[in-house]
Amino acid sequence: MTSVGTDVDRVDGPEKTTGRARYSADRVLPDMAYAHVVLSTIGKGRIRAMNTDAAAGAPGVLRVYTPFQPLKLYPPPPGYGETYAVLQDRDIRFRGQVIGLVVARTFEQAREAAALVTTEYDAQQPSTSLAAGSPGVTAPDQGQGAPPAKFAVLAPGVTSIDQALAASEVTVQGTYTQGSQHHVAMEPHATVAVWQDGHLTAYCGAQMPQVHAVSLAAQLGVEADRVRVLSPYVGGAFGSRVATWPDIALASAAALDLDRPVKLVLAREQVFTMVGHRPAVSQTVRLGASADGVLNAVSHKSDVAMPMPTVGSWVMVPAQDTSGALYKTPNLAIDQRVVPLDMPPTWAMRGPNEAPGGFAIETAMDELAVSLRMDPLRLRLRNYATTAAGTGRPWSSKHLRECYETGAERFGWSSRPRSGTVDGQWLVGTGMATAIYPAARFPAAVRVRFRDDGTAVVASATADIGTGAVTLLSICGSDALGIPLSRVEPRLGDSALPPGAPAVGSAGAGSTAPVIRSAAQAAITALIDLAVTHPDSPFYGMTADQVRYHDGYLDAGAGRSMGFARLLKLTGTAGVEATANGGPGPEAGQYAFHSFGAHFCEVRGNRFTGEPRVSRFTTVVDIGTVVNAQATRSQIVGSVIFGIGHALLEVDPLEDSGRLAAGNLGDYLVPVNADIPDIDVHWLDIPDTVYSPFGARGVGELATVGSAAAIGNAIHDATGIRVRDLPITLDKLL
Ligand code: MOS
Repeated sequence: MTSVGTDVDRVDGPEKTTGRARYSADRVLPDMAYAHVVLSTIGKGRIRAMNTDAAAGAPGVLRVYTPFQPLKLYPPPPGYGETYAVLQDRDIRFRGQVIGLVVARTFEQAREAAALVTTEYDAQQPSTSLAAGSPGVTAPDQGQGAPPAKFAVLAPGVTSIDQALAASEVTVQGTYTQGSQHHVAMEPHATVAVWQDGHLTAYCGAQMPQVHAVSLAAQLGVEADRVRVLSPYVGGAFGSRVATWPDIALASAAALDLDRPVKLVLAREQVFTMVGHRPAVSQTVRLGASADGVLNAVSHKSDVAMPMPTVGSWVMVPAQDTSGALYKTPNLAIDQRVVPLDMPPTWAMRGPNEAPGGFAIETAMDELAVSLRMDPLRLRLRNYATTAAGTGRPWSSKHLRECYETGAERFGWSSRPRSGTVDGQWLVGTGMATAIYPAARFPAAVRVRFRDDGTAVVASATADIGTGAVTLLSICGSDALGIPLSRVEPRLGDSALPPGAPAVGSAGAGSTAPVIRSAAQAAITALIDLAVTHPDSPFYGMTADQVRYHDGYLDAGAGRSMGFARLLKLTGTAGVEATANGGPGPEAGQYAFHSFGAHFCEVRGNRFTGEPRVSRFTTVVDIGTVVNAQATRSQIVGSVIFGIGHALLEVDPLEDSGRLAAGNLGDYLVPVNADIPDIDVHWLDIPDTVYSPFGARGVGELATVGSAAAIGNAIHDATGIRVRDLPITLDKLL
């Protein structure tokens, strides 16, 4: 009996719901000091002077660090975060940059003293307008087999995308915009740093514990093997805990300097500027089609705000895995650009490219359907792709058509209310959109260890950022070893474990599951080897192929069977283990890999107040093998909720001063329960054995792609108003 594909309660659920789970900030160590950061209050310029006397003299204060009395820090390695090291110069690159660190005996004393630091600046006018900087410059090369940021695939004889568009019977064009957004993970960013014998242990949230350790070592200027990152529980990440932001290195450097453990918990407002966010983006999509809805040309241009090179960031490329792959078209042009501004760092967030990109192409497809007077679902089926337009590759496994059909059936698409149906004070409309998300596979190592108490450890330095990864280790370990879930001890969130898959790009589960199976096989081989070679084993002297492993037992037939715990005890062996590595093979260069889905939703727009309410939502996805049905459902529901936030609520305007105007949870709105209807979720459960022998692709971010477009399309259907600037707030519907 395997539990793969069934509803499995989180193995860490009881710890989390009873408060026994210790998150980073829950660590309390003897003699621990508390740190608080001081942030810049101008958007660009230079510090002339700082007065720290009052802070240094305040009760409980141990030290005040500033650019004038710095901690020595180095920038993270290229690509691991920002490009500069905090406190090493007096330049102000953005508003909300770290300019000081106060360490005191208590949190309250540190925070109080930090407020006493005064700073004089030579201020300059920051550049903050995406519109003023557009069109930007072509985004840098993404590397690692990614397509170039700008490319075109044109039919023979066609010389430009403009020519292809001009030759089309019907064209639509739309410019789709959205402002800055933030991850707002529930757990604020927090670090507890402690040094012992020249070795650092940092408790901090990490999507990639080993990468955090490497980056932290570089920032501190010590060897990587002297840094261990522990991140067993993470209260949400969504991209915000990929890079190592300056707080972790600051706490670690202060702990070294003061020779005592240091805890640094960012205040909620500080998270908004110290941790990279999703920048504003403007996208223009142009579609050309025949009068009966066959696409002839797809053009997708994007201008993405990004910080100056002196800050560094992750670069958004919203078109390549959306318009670049979604539909069959003889002419395709992708042009992804960036506009450098004086703004806080940016990073990947919740379908980082695909959620904005999906909003643009899936709204444009709806606009095309409207102008063709065609059912938007029929338009998508008419342009169904069997190879990815950008690369020409066939998919490893694609069952999007079944997603459309099943979703339409479950939602009742064919009997949906007419556009603009009036129901009391509400206008009712429906919309649909496609979800697509790249199915990356990362190299991963997993260790499986049989122990003499009858349990087995499944260990990998991946992370559980709230996704259920630790439960996945249990489920897959139990499945591969044929023992109950309760006899599997999962371990992750520790940089000292075998290098696991990063919990990014919705690829942690898909990358880890097949390697758990390989590691279990290798551990079984090692166990059988012990059984036939140890003189105290009842299987001693047999050949390995005479002994079979099943369900926790070694079995040589004729009643000669023994549980592995007994064998280990008889032979005086504490444990037998093996580590396996796995990752993408030659298939990686031959196929396109994506997960797919179809969204259908109903929205009600208030006729008098404009207020939009999502009233029904159905999402059907094609994600390969499902490991944990319960966690899969939760993830899809969660990512549709992200889509509702994206569509209706989330935005943080960047003011002319360089201030992010809604940098707090009072002004930055995220959906609450009252905003969310019942969400009907279904998956096809068709294994993708080209992607991996296990067949499970990623789930997490998929359903956040296209969901905002489905909502906007339904709002248009209800009200006749096409809103191309997110979020769709009621003022835009009056
Ligand atoms: Mo995700 S935005 O790849 O952490």
